[in-house]
Amino acid sequence: NIQNNFQFILFGGTGDLAHNKIIPAFYNLAAKDSLPDKFTIVATGRRYDNKNAYLDALYNSLINKKEKIDDKVWRFLTEHIDYFQLSFKDENDFKNLRKYLKNKSKKEKVANRIFYLATAPKFFAEIAKKIEKFNLLEIKLENNESRLVIEKPFGHDFKSAKKLNDTLSSIFSEKNIFRIDHYLGKEMIQNIMVIRLSNPIFRALWNKDHIDNIQIYLNESEGVKDRGKYYDDAGVIKDMFQNHILQVLSLIAMEEPENLSAEEISNKKVEVFKELADNDLSNIDNHIVRGQYISNIVDGEKIKSYREEKEIDSQSETATFMALKLFLNNERWRDVPIYLKSGKRLNKKEAGIAIEFKDSFHPAYLDQNKLDNNLLLIKIQPEEGISLRFNTRKPASNNKIVPVEMEFCQSCQQFFNSPENYEVLIYDMISGDKTLFTSWKEVSYSWKFIDKIQEKYAEENINLHKYPALSKGPKAADQLLENDGRKWLDNN
Ligand code: BG6
Repeated sequence: NIQNNFQFILFGGTGDLAHNKIIPAFYNLAAKDSLPDKFTIVATGRRYDNKNAYLDALYNSLINKKEKIDDKVWRFLTEHIDYFQLSFKDENDFKNLRKYLKNKSKKEKVANRIFYLATAPKFFAEIAKKIEKFNLLEIKLENNESRLVIEKPFGHDFKSAKKLNDTLSSIFSEKNIFRIDHYLGKEMIQNIMVIRLSNPIFRALWNKDHIDNIQIYLNESEGVKDRGKYYDDAGVIKDMFQNHILQVLSLIAMEEPENLSAEEISNKKVEVFKELADNDLSNIDNHIVRGQYISNIVDGEKIKSYREEKEIDSQSETATFMALKLFLNNERWRDVPIYLKSGKRLNKKEAGIAIEFKDSFHPAYLDQNKLDNNLLLIKIQPEEGISLRFNTRKPASNNKIVPVEMEFCQSCQQFFNSPENYEVLIYDMISGDKTLFTSWKEVSYSWKFIDKIQEKYAEENINLHKYPALSKGPKAADQLLENDGRKWLDNN
């Protein structure tokens, strides 16, 4: 149900995101024949003064990403891309953009308009205001439901997020604001609700009576690359926790939705964010471990410390790693610890969710050597799949019990090619499906929780543990679980 004849106005059309994610996603959609015949991507930017120069640059970026570019697909795409040179600061450029869109819309009976802000965050509010001021919304459309798509970060705390949202929502209705969290476009994250709700063996056990603890880990091996300026302000807490990790947690922990509408699911997720704020953080060291990577030599090569990275303050106290232990004080989850962690420059890129079940074995088996708990692993990346650990009798043994793992590797299947996150999200924004986008309520309550943590560590000056680049992360993060008689269940 993708909409025919839409205009996709891309602010930041010459930036990294457009080159590396957005246009390649359109290419993939075109290759799968998922796009309608009539639509126009109006890419705006300052850098090039003509369409051909812009297309050449796009082509070069695509070559770097793909083994082979299909000429037919590329031609189809280029016929649907226009380039419009524009500076955000220049009012005349906006006036001209209006004229251009108006002419085009008249000729082509444009049904809808999608404004995509793929720019630096400091321009989000300014561009939205100019969209309004220069009446880009009011040009006649067949179906006037113009949408706004906005990248992260959505504010840097609750207050700034609210200010931004007040501006956006005075121009677009909530229904038409699509806030991106690209983790929601990942295959296994879209799979969480299906695993939980369509399998009685999990659905029946998804609570404190059967689950011992929940772990979510988003481990990265890369450093901050060339995004030092942004990252040194944000740190891991705003870069990975406020959005991605809390989103994953909300899908794992929410109450069952009554139906699958975007609104109902979002309301259920919001309850989780609200409850997070009830965590008593007075004894903060029992809840949080912060870390920052220091230099290391790996295979004879020196890996820079965080403080030596480009555009990072040489005395920076920004955390590049964080582990959190939290609780949700509700009927379903009371007293079940939830452990979250994410960090840059860890020894392995690996993201997943571990659900460890309780040790409620039949008493007759308790005399045996210690049995392993059942464990459900949802593997997000790089491998996508599910593994389930259970106990079985070791063949030809004297009733010895051993754990075995049943594996479903989705990404190992022949001819498997997981769609890119942005491909899924762009398809949905064009179709008007908001399920994989975050609502203002979700964003606002997740900020309130993150603000609470930030205030706490501003007050208490909690330790910043140093960990060598490309290592497992700070030992204190292991200790956090060892204190509870547990360990991390990732492969780090
Ligand atoms: C982004 C963060 O939102 O997510 C990056 O800003 C991070 O710092 C990235 O590296 C991780 O995404 P993925 O899809 O590679 O796990």
